[in-house]
Amino acid sequence: MYEQISHSLLNDILNRIKPEFYEEDLRHFYTRLGANFYAIHSLLMKLYGERDDFEQHAQHLVEIMARQYLNRPKALKQKDLEREKDYNWFLSQKWVGMALYSNGFADDLNGVTEHLNYFSELGINLVHIMPIMRCPEGHSDGGYAVSDFREVDSRVGSLQDVQALSSEMRQRDILLALDVVLNHTSNEHEWAQRARSGDPVYQNYYYTFENRTVPDMFEQSMPEIFPQTSPGNFTWDEEMGRWVMTVFNDYQWDLNYSNPAVLIEMLDVILFWANQGADILRLDAVAFLWKKLGSTCQNEREAHLILQLLKDCCQVTAPGTLFIAEAIVAPVEVIKYFGEDAVIAKECEIAYNATYMALLWDAVATKNAKLLNQGIKSLPVKLERATWLNYIRCHDDIGFGFDDSDIVQAGYEPYKHRRFLIDYFTGQFDDSHARGVPFGENDKTGDARVSGSLASLVGLQYAIYSGDQEAIESAVKQILLLHGMILSFGGIPLLYYGDEIGTLNDDSYLDDPHKMDDSRWVHRPYINWEKAARRNESGTPEYLIFSALKRMISVHKEIDVFADFNNRELIEVDNPHLFVFGRYNLHRQGEEVLVVANFDAKPQQLNLEDVGTWARPQYGQYIDLYSGQTPEVFKDTLVIPGFGFYWLSGT
Ligand code: GLC
Ligand code: GLC
Repeated sequence: MYEQISHSLLNDILNRIKPEFYEEDLRHFYTRLGANFYAIHSLLMKLYGERDDFEQHAQHLVEIMARQYLNRPKALKQKDLEREKDYNWFLSQKWVGMALYSNGFADDLNGVTEHLNYFSELGINLVHIMPIMRCPEGHSDGGYAVSDFREVDSRVGSLQDVQALSSEMRQRDILLALDVVLNHTSNEHEWAQRARSGDPVYQNYYYTFENRTVPDMFEQSMPEIFPQTSPGNFTWDEEMGRWVMTVFNDYQWDLNYSNPAVLIEMLDVILFWANQGADILRLDAVAFLWKKLGSTCQNEREAHLILQLLKDCCQVTAPGTLFIAEAIVAPVEVIKYFGEDAVIAKECEIAYNATYMALLWDAVATKNAKLLNQGIKSLPVKLERATWLNYIRCHDDIGFGFDDSDIVQAGYEPYKHRRFLIDYFTGQFDDSHARGVPFGENDKTGDARVSGSLASLVGLQYAIYSGDQEAIESAVKQILLLHGMILSFGGIPLLYYGDEIGTLNDDSYLDDPHKMDDSRWVHRPYINWEKAARRNESGTPEYLIFSALKRMISVHKEIDVFADFNNRELIEVDNPHLFVFGRYNLHRQGEEVLVVANFDAKPQQLNLEDVGTWARPQYGQYIDLYSGQTPEVFKDTLVIPGFGFYWLSGT
């Protein structure tokens, strides 16, 4: 009997709905609405059920979904149907991604369209373009301070350019991922302007306060995200004469999701971008969506309800569109962004695997896999129909947010170990060739993070400047080793633009007053296409990295057990320098790949008794699928070269 309330509400809504929604062919829309409305209604009730205007908001929500369905291009509706049938499509190992700034990669969006062959050359078929919506001229947090959610920033192009790019990509079977910045707007957004001019309707789109009483209470439990450039979580706005909540930078105003009007506006924005042809939407900073006094204001239950609601509504209008959760939070918390169903991701289908990323960096610094093994052992199993985004670098800093208990288990003291990592990556030790830059140092907590390009962090910058050929080779090996790990772990590998040609730190941000105080710009490069052309000149670092990655990606796509079906087993071995895991076929016994990685500079040995029956060769020989070679085995001991890795098959 429990569904009757939602059924009768839906009937009322449909009776009141405008006639235009009857004239068109909305069969698929109504089928999906019927199937999802019970969930939508329950979530809305939990979030906003107490309000007198509840039904009006519910009506508005359904109308937004219907209108955006009418706006949805035919080609995308067709994709929706295909993907509904082939619902595991995104778990396939055939997808390999790259994240980039359109202006850093190729001047603007049209430039990206012109360079599509570059992706195909490398084997990339998913491109995440960093924020492209209109943002302030000066400080914009790399586009994460949005001034207009429906306009493209004129510095990178226009909506027409996005549509042209997305349709060209569709023809080439390349997926497009775009950002939707849900948690905040820039202070130049129209809503913020109206709030400033005193309009109470728009002041209620944000968290504003006339005095410090409530802000001071919040500050007792909220951490600081940008302690150096934007300490505290509130900013005084002179024009408005009020305090406004600004968790990130002082020009990024946090949206108030306890107001249903905000949720509906943002749903409309999500559907708008789905209709521009985005296959995947990266939902930024989702952990922060709900604020509660006395809490850290991260990972609150209501933040999850909001995401579930957005997903349910998106399922009705644009079911082929996936969500990526950008929640760089503890492993037990990240996993919740897939939703709480047993099997299906009812929140975000994809989540950044920040845990794995940080653990890989730990292994680079320590030259062993102790914490990596421990951290992966504690990584909760994800849902079946959800997947990780595995990455080494992205546009943000690296935070060493491991579980303290894992650090202890691995034999270190948490505070000292994190300090070691920061010092290591910022090159404070004589034997560290890393050239990272500190980010977000917090004197109050002693916490800090690290910026820097992949190549500079593994020592390529040092090696090139000192003309040390051996050091160049060792840096290249580490770059390949790390990619070998994100390509075999299970999930969508996401490369970061420039890393495929060993791009070094770029210090030019120090000359730009809007960037100089944010060291993340050191690893947001402008691609030098002449340098990129050296990928075809054998012997250059660009060639060594690019050609190896190209091979690695193409081999990866052929290995079925690399698809992400919770088919990975961590294998604990005696040698602490090694990270070993198996990937297997859930349905065909014996179809296995054994992944073995050596994080030490020296060759290491693996006692094959440690790996039991994993991928045991039938005829006495292993083959490394990546290199196509037979690895060195002496008696029952496998030898793995310094910074080397294998994807071993036994047949
Ligand atoms: C999705 C993808 C498409 C792929 C299909 C089947 O629709 O967009 O490229 O071929 O799934 O895997
Ligand atoms: C996300 C982005 C980061 C940005 C922040 C605030 O974490 O990745 O670059 O600064 O959100 O929008």
